[in-house]
Amino acid sequence: MAEKHWFWATLALSSITIIAAVFAAWELLENRYFRNADYVTLHYLYLTRGVASSLLLAFWAAWFVLRQRRQSEEDLRRSRERYRGLLEAFPGAVVLYDSELRVLEWNAPAEHLYGYAKAEICGRALPIVPQSRQGELREFMLRVTSGEPVLDIETLRAPRQGEPIEVQLSLLPFREPAVPVYFLEVTSDIRERVRLRAQMLEIEKLTSMGKMAAGTAHHLNSPLAALLLRVELMRERAMDAGLRADVERLEDGLNFCRHFVQRLLDFTRAAPVEKRNHDLAATLESVAGFFRPIIQAKRVRLEVDTTEARGGQVYADRNLIEAVLLILLSNALDAVHAGGEIRAGCSRTGPGRIRFFVSDNGCGITAAHLEHVFEPFFTTKEPGKGTGLGLAIARNVITEHGGAIRIESQPGSGTTVSVELPLAREGALVAAS
Ligand SMILES: Nc1ncnc2c1ncn2[C@@H]1O[C@H](COP(=O)(O)OP(=O)(O)OP(=O)(O)O)[C@@H](O)[C@H]1O
Ligand SMILES: [Mg+2]
Repeated sequence: MAEKHWFWATLALSSITIIAAVFAAWELLENRYFRNADYVTLHYLYLTRGVASSLLLAFWAAWFVLRQRRQSEEDLRRSRERYRGLLEAFPGAVVLYDSELRVLEWNAPAEHLYGYAKAEICGRALPIVPQSRQGELREFMLRVTSGEPVLDIETLRAPRQGEPIEVQLSLLPFREPAVPVYFLEVTSDIRERVRLRAQMLEIEKLTSMGKMAAGTAHHLNSPLAALLLRVELMRERAMDAGLRADVERLEDGLNFCRHFVQRLLDFTRAAPVEKRNHDLAATLESVAGFFRPIIQAKRVRLEVDTTEARGGQVYADRNLIEAVLLILLSNALDAVHAGGEIRAGCSRTGPGRIRFFVSDNGCGITAAHLEHVFEPFFTTKEPGKGTGLGLAIARNVITEHGGAIRIESQPGSGTTVSVELPLAREGALVAAS
């Protein structure tokens, strides 16, 4: 407003100065050359003065107004560029829309997050609010219009492709003179944060569950052993065939309970790890040798090849590595049918790394199950058959030894579990020898 006043004041003052200058010039001209001029000459002189000053004034005003206008346009263009630059440089997705949810602005991060290009979406109805969140958005709009802030709210937005995603949203009123209020929605992708939070909750849950399980398993271990002993005696003494079959079922159930309790104790084990250098290939061969009769009883072939890794030492707790091998071999055995095949082997991979694997041509694992197999208590086996702790224990052990465990599977064709461990360092070798 003040600028407008200045504009008119400058124009008026400069016009008065121009008129004064023209009149003064004419006055000098008249005094010098037309002192004795007649009435008609003077009449024409005044007429020319009037026309000349009007023309000069008109040209001056037109030039002044035009220059001012160009200046304003340039200022406007620069401020638009600045505002666009700010909008694009902003790390979050910024969307400007009116009360009818018609999009007016859409920055590059919004293009990236939601998958709609600015050119196609401006002027269209906002397509990213899921049906379930329409009411919520209307409520937010009412809140910001009445001056209440809507900041850092967790909600959902629907990108062009895929499921709705979790975002953190702030909604601000965008007021400009003489236009209805617009809404500036700023969102950022918080999927990773939500995932980590869920993971933290899961870890907390598992930790407290682990503590509870460890206590329970500890208390159940001795009574279960005593019960098993009694049931075994009962089976041996049972004369009646029906009773004997019942006792055998009881014994099976108790055996499973004991296995479960032992697994729980292994899973929540707090005992110190006793690491020593040992030959991984030799460990694999001895576990395979122990397991071979069980495998052969099911008419399954077991092939072990450790030639590539002979002499490769790992610095590890041998009992734990043996436990992992047993877990993998028994999983493979559960997966194959009679006549199937299990292969186990050992090889060196890259400098300082050694790998062993157990692979089978059994039922395989579906993609939906594959992402859960390392979770504690995840099992596809019927109740009383699997604890779902085998792979969870295996992963704990391998991570504890600085290694990695990977599982690849083709449903219907088979599964391969590979474990990579660091080779024992020279220093550790000397210390052990
Ligand atoms: N070699 C394999 N072939 C097919 N499925 C497998 C294989 N190894 C693991 N799985 C799947 O992963 C699940 C989890 O295995 P995990 O060893 O942790 O528990 P479990 O075998 O079910 O129980 P437990 O180890 O107590 O017998 C299994 O129930 C099975 O569905
Ligand atoms: Mg298992």
